[in-house]
Amino acid sequence: MSSQSGDPRAKLKRQAAIEAASMVQDGMVVGLGSGTTSAYMIEELGRRWAEGLRFCAIPTSEHSAEQARAHGIKLVTFATHPQIDLDIDGADEVELGTLNLIKGLGGALFREKIVAAASRRFVVVVDESKLVERLGHHVPVPVEVTTFGWESTARQLEALGARITQRMDRSGNVFVTDGGNMILDCHFGPIADSVALSRRLRAIVGVIETGLFIGRTSEVIVAAHDGLKHLEPS
Ligand code: A5P
Repeated sequence: MSSQSGDPRAKLKRQAAIEAASMVQDGMVVGLGSGTTSAYMIEELGRRWAEGLRFCAIPTSEHSAEQARAHGIKLVTFATHPQIDLDIDGADEVELGTLNLIKGLGGALFREKIVAAASRRFVVVVDESKLVERLGHHVPVPVEVTTFGWESTARQLEALGARITQRMDRSGNVFVTDGGNMILDCHFGPIADSVALSRRLRAIVGVIETGLFIGRTSEVIVAAHDGLKHLEPS
Protein backbone atom coordinates (compact mmCIF):
# COMPACT_ATOMS: atom_id res chain seq x y z
CA MET A 1 0.00 0.00 0.00
CA SER A 2 3.03 2.26 -0.13
CA SER A 3 2.41 3.48 -3.65
CA GLN A 4 -0.71 5.42 -4.46
CA SER A 5 -2.49 4.25 -7.60
CA GLY A 6 -3.98 6.64 -10.12
CA ASP A 7 -7.41 5.68 -8.75
CA PRO A 8 -9.02 8.95 -7.58
CA ARG A 9 -10.88 7.12 -4.78
CA ALA A 10 -7.61 5.70 -3.49
CA LYS A 11 -6.22 9.23 -3.39
CA LEU A 12 -9.21 10.43 -1.34
CA LYS A 13 -9.02 7.45 1.02
CA ARG A 14 -5.37 8.24 1.64
CA GLN A 15 -6.13 11.91 2.41
CA ALA A 16 -8.77 10.95 5.00
CA ALA A 17 -6.43 8.34 6.49
CA ILE A 18 -3.52 10.77 6.85
CA GLU A 19 -5.78 13.35 8.50
CA ALA A 20 -6.94 10.76 11.06
CA ALA A 21 -3.41 9.53 11.69
CA SER A 22 -2.46 13.09 12.65
CA MET A 23 -4.76 12.69 15.70
CA VAL A 24 -2.49 10.04 17.22
CA GLN A 25 -0.28 11.43 19.97
CA ASP A 26 2.57 10.05 22.07
CA GLY A 27 1.45 7.56 24.72
CA MET A 28 -1.94 6.76 23.19
CA VAL A 29 -3.50 3.32 22.88
CA VAL A 30 -4.72 3.19 19.28
CA GLY A 31 -7.17 0.87 17.52
CA LEU A 32 -5.98 -0.02 14.02
CA GLY A 33 -8.83 -0.62 11.59
CA SER A 34 -8.87 -2.91 8.58
CA GLY A 35 -9.36 -2.40 4.86
CA THR A 36 -7.69 -0.29 2.23
CA THR A 37 -8.33 3.11 3.90
CA SER A 38 -7.03 1.84 7.23
CA ALA A 39 -3.97 0.48 5.45
CA TYR A 40 -3.12 4.04 4.38
CA MET A 41 -3.60 5.14 8.00
CA ILE A 42 -1.25 2.40 9.29
CA GLU A 43 1.28 3.33 6.62
CA GLU A 44 1.17 6.96 7.80
CA LEU A 45 1.50 5.88 11.45
CA GLY A 46 4.48 3.78 10.41
CA ARG A 47 6.04 6.88 8.88
CA ARG A 48 5.42 8.86 12.07
CA TRP A 49 6.73 5.96 14.19
CA ALA A 50 9.99 6.13 12.20
CA GLU A 51 10.11 9.84 13.06
CA GLY A 52 9.88 9.03 16.78
CA LEU A 53 6.16 9.02 17.65
CA ARG A 54 5.56 6.36 20.33
CA PHE A 55 2.19 4.75 21.00
CA CYS A 56 0.83 1.23 21.22
CA ALA A 57 -1.88 -0.37 19.15
CA ILE A 58 -4.51 -3.08 19.04
CA PRO A 59 -5.19 -4.28 15.48
CA THR A 60 -8.63 -5.34 14.23
CA SER A 61 -7.35 -8.06 11.92
CA GLU A 62 -4.36 -10.31 11.34
CA HIS A 63 -3.73 -8.37 8.15
CA SER A 64 -3.52 -5.01 9.96
CA ALA A 65 -1.37 -6.60 12.67
CA GLU A 66 1.07 -7.82 10.05
CA GLN A 67 1.26 -4.39 8.41
CA ALA A 68 1.80 -2.64 11.77
CA ARG A 69 4.51 -5.12 12.79
CA ALA A 70 6.31 -4.52 9.50
CA HIS A 71 6.56 -0.83 10.50
CA GLY A 72 7.80 -1.76 13.98
CA ILE A 73 4.64 -0.38 15.64
CA LYS A 74 4.19 -1.76 19.16
CA LEU A 75 1.17 -4.09 19.37
CA VAL A 76 -0.55 -4.87 22.67
CA THR A 77 -3.66 -6.77 23.75
CA PHE A 78 -6.75 -6.10 25.86
CA ALA A 79 -5.11 -8.07 28.69
CA THR A 80 -2.84 -5.13 29.43
CA HIS A 81 -4.73 -2.32 27.65
CA PRO A 82 -8.49 -2.80 28.05
CA GLN A 83 -9.26 0.84 27.20
CA ILE A 84 -8.38 2.30 23.79
CA ASP A 85 -7.96 6.07 23.41
CA LEU A 86 -8.58 6.35 19.69
CA ASP A 87 -9.80 3.82 17.16
CA ILE A 88 -9.46 4.70 13.46
CA ASP A 89 -11.23 2.53 10.92
CA GLY A 90 -12.86 2.61 7.49
CA ALA A 91 -16.48 1.87 6.61
CA ASP A 92 -18.46 0.59 3.66
CA GLU A 93 -21.38 2.99 4.14
CA VAL A 94 -21.94 5.98 6.43
CA GLU A 95 -25.49 7.18 7.01
CA LEU A 96 -25.68 10.95 6.85
CA GLY A 97 -26.89 12.48 10.11
CA THR A 98 -26.73 9.47 12.43
CA LEU A 99 -23.27 8.41 11.20
CA ASN A 100 -24.34 4.82 11.72
CA LEU A 101 -22.29 2.47 9.57
CA ILE A 102 -22.14 -0.70 7.58
CA LYS A 103 -18.75 -2.35 7.95
CA GLY A 104 -17.30 -5.74 7.22
CA LEU A 105 -16.98 -6.08 3.46
CA GLY A 106 -13.35 -6.83 4.29
CA GLY A 107 -14.47 -9.52 6.75
CA ALA A 108 -13.07 -8.07 9.99
CA LEU A 109 -16.34 -6.74 11.45
CA PHE A 110 -16.30 -8.72 14.72
CA ARG A 111 -12.89 -7.58 15.91
CA GLU A 112 -13.58 -4.12 14.50
CA LYS A 113 -16.68 -3.83 16.66
CA ILE A 114 -14.91 -5.09 19.80
CA VAL A 115 -12.16 -2.51 19.32
CA ALA A 116 -14.64 0.30 18.54
CA ALA A 117 -16.68 -0.60 21.64
CA ALA A 118 -13.56 -0.36 23.82
CA SER A 119 -12.53 3.05 22.46
CA ARG A 120 -13.06 6.51 23.89
CA ARG A 121 -13.15 7.93 20.36
CA PHE A 122 -14.07 6.07 17.21
CA VAL A 123 -12.99 7.98 14.11
CA VAL A 124 -14.12 6.71 10.72
CA VAL A 125 -12.22 7.47 7.54
CA VAL A 126 -13.93 7.35 4.15
CA ASP A 127 -14.03 8.87 0.71
CA GLU A 128 -17.22 10.67 -0.24
CA SER A 129 -18.64 7.70 -2.19
CA LYS A 130 -19.40 5.97 1.14
CA LEU A 131 -21.97 8.56 2.28
CA VAL A 132 -25.61 7.45 1.94
CA GLU A 133 -29.03 8.71 2.99
CA ARG A 134 -30.02 5.21 4.16
CA LEU A 135 -27.77 2.28 5.08
CA GLY A 136 -28.06 -0.65 2.69
CA HIS A 137 -28.20 1.57 -0.37
CA HIS A 138 -25.14 0.09 -2.08
CA VAL A 139 -23.92 -2.79 0.07
CA PRO A 140 -25.32 -5.77 2.00
CA VAL A 141 -25.09 -6.09 5.78
CA PRO A 142 -22.32 -8.62 6.53
CA VAL A 143 -23.34 -10.95 9.35
CA GLU A 144 -20.77 -13.18 11.04
CA VAL A 145 -22.29 -16.54 11.97
CA THR A 146 -21.13 -19.81 13.47
CA THR A 147 -20.37 -22.55 10.96
CA PHE A 148 -22.43 -25.05 12.98
CA GLY A 149 -26.04 -24.77 11.87
CA TRP A 150 -25.40 -21.86 9.52
CA GLU A 151 -28.11 -23.05 7.14
CA SER A 152 -30.68 -22.65 9.91
CA THR A 153 -29.27 -19.23 10.82
CA ALA A 154 -29.51 -18.24 7.15
CA ARG A 155 -33.23 -19.16 7.08
CA GLN A 156 -33.91 -16.95 10.05
CA LEU A 157 -32.05 -14.10 8.38
CA GLU A 158 -34.15 -14.62 5.26
CA ALA A 159 -37.27 -14.44 7.40
CA LEU A 160 -36.24 -10.86 8.25
CA GLY A 161 -36.40 -10.03 4.54
CA ALA A 162 -32.78 -10.54 3.51
CA ARG A 163 -31.50 -12.12 0.34
CA ILE A 164 -28.47 -14.07 1.53
CA THR A 165 -25.16 -14.71 -0.17
CA GLN A 166 -22.50 -16.80 1.48
CA ARG A 167 -19.15 -14.95 1.49
CA MET A 168 -16.47 -16.71 -0.58
CA ASP A 169 -12.76 -15.95 -0.76
CA ARG A 170 -10.76 -15.16 -3.89
CA SER A 171 -10.04 -18.84 -4.50
CA GLY A 172 -13.74 -19.69 -4.45
CA ASN A 173 -13.67 -21.32 -1.01
CA VAL A 174 -15.97 -20.35 1.86
CA PHE A 175 -14.51 -17.24 3.50
CA VAL A 176 -13.28 -17.87 7.04
CA THR A 177 -12.95 -14.92 9.44
CA ASP A 178 -10.00 -14.38 11.78
CA GLY A 179 -12.25 -15.88 14.48
CA GLY A 180 -12.89 -19.05 12.42
CA ASN A 181 -16.50 -18.18 11.56
CA MET A 182 -18.28 -17.46 8.28
CA ILE A 183 -20.03 -14.43 6.86
CA LEU A 184 -23.48 -14.26 5.32
CA ASP A 185 -24.00 -11.07 3.31
CA CYS A 186 -27.59 -9.96 3.87
CA HIS A 187 -29.06 -7.85 1.09
CA PHE A 188 -31.93 -5.81 2.50
CA GLY A 189 -31.82 -2.81 0.17
CA PRO A 190 -32.17 0.62 1.85
CA ILE A 191 -32.89 0.04 5.55
CA ALA A 192 -35.65 2.19 7.04
CA ASP A 193 -34.84 1.43 10.69
CA SER A 194 -31.27 0.18 11.14
CA VAL A 195 -31.53 0.34 14.95
CA ALA A 196 -34.45 -2.11 14.99
CA LEU A 197 -32.85 -4.32 12.34
CA SER A 198 -29.61 -4.49 14.32
CA ARG A 199 -31.54 -5.68 17.39
CA ARG A 200 -33.46 -8.32 15.41
CA LEU A 201 -30.34 -9.65 13.73
CA ARG A 202 -28.45 -9.97 16.99
CA ALA A 203 -31.36 -11.84 18.59
CA ILE A 204 -30.93 -14.74 16.15
CA VAL A 205 -29.12 -17.74 17.62
CA GLY A 206 -26.00 -18.41 15.54
CA VAL A 207 -25.38 -14.74 14.77
CA ILE A 208 -22.12 -13.67 16.34
CA GLU A 209 -22.04 -10.06 15.22
CA THR A 210 -23.32 -7.84 12.44
CA GLY A 211 -21.74 -5.15 10.30
CA LEU A 212 -24.28 -2.57 11.50
CA PHE A 213 -22.39 -0.15 13.74
CA ILE A 214 -25.09 1.81 15.55
CA GLY A 215 -24.38 4.83 17.75
CA ARG A 216 -20.66 4.16 17.93
CA THR A 217 -19.18 6.83 15.66
CA SER A 218 -17.53 9.86 17.29
CA GLU A 219 -16.49 11.50 14.05
CA VAL A 220 -16.24 10.78 10.33
CA ILE A 221 -13.43 12.23 8.23
CA VAL A 222 -14.65 12.40 4.65
CA ALA A 223 -12.28 13.09 1.81
CA ALA A 224 -14.22 14.73 -1.02
CA HIS A 225 -13.16 16.34 -4.27
CA ASP A 226 -13.67 19.76 -2.69
CA GLY A 227 -11.63 18.95 0.43
CA LEU A 228 -11.71 17.18 3.78
CA LYS A 229 -14.83 17.33 5.95
CA HIS A 230 -15.24 16.40 9.60
CA LEU A 231 -18.75 15.15 10.45
CA GLU A 232 -20.19 14.55 13.91
CA PRO A 233 -23.38 12.62 14.64
CA SER A 234 -26.53 14.71 14.85
C1 A5P B 1 -13.23 -4.43 6.98
O1 A5P B 1 -13.86 -5.53 7.57
C2 A5P B 1 -14.22 -3.36 6.74
O2 A5P B 1 -15.07 -3.05 7.77
C3 A5P B 1 -13.55 -2.11 6.20
O3 A5P B 1 -13.30 -1.18 7.21
C4 A5P B 1 -14.45 -1.53 5.22
O4 A5P B 1 -14.79 -2.59 4.34
C5 A5P B 1 -13.84 -0.37 4.46
O5 A5P B 1 -12.89 -0.85 3.56
P1 A5P B 1 -12.10 0.07 2.58
O6 A5P B 1 -11.37 1.08 3.39
O7 A5P B 1 -11.18 -0.90 1.88
O8 A5P B 1 -13.07 0.69 1.62
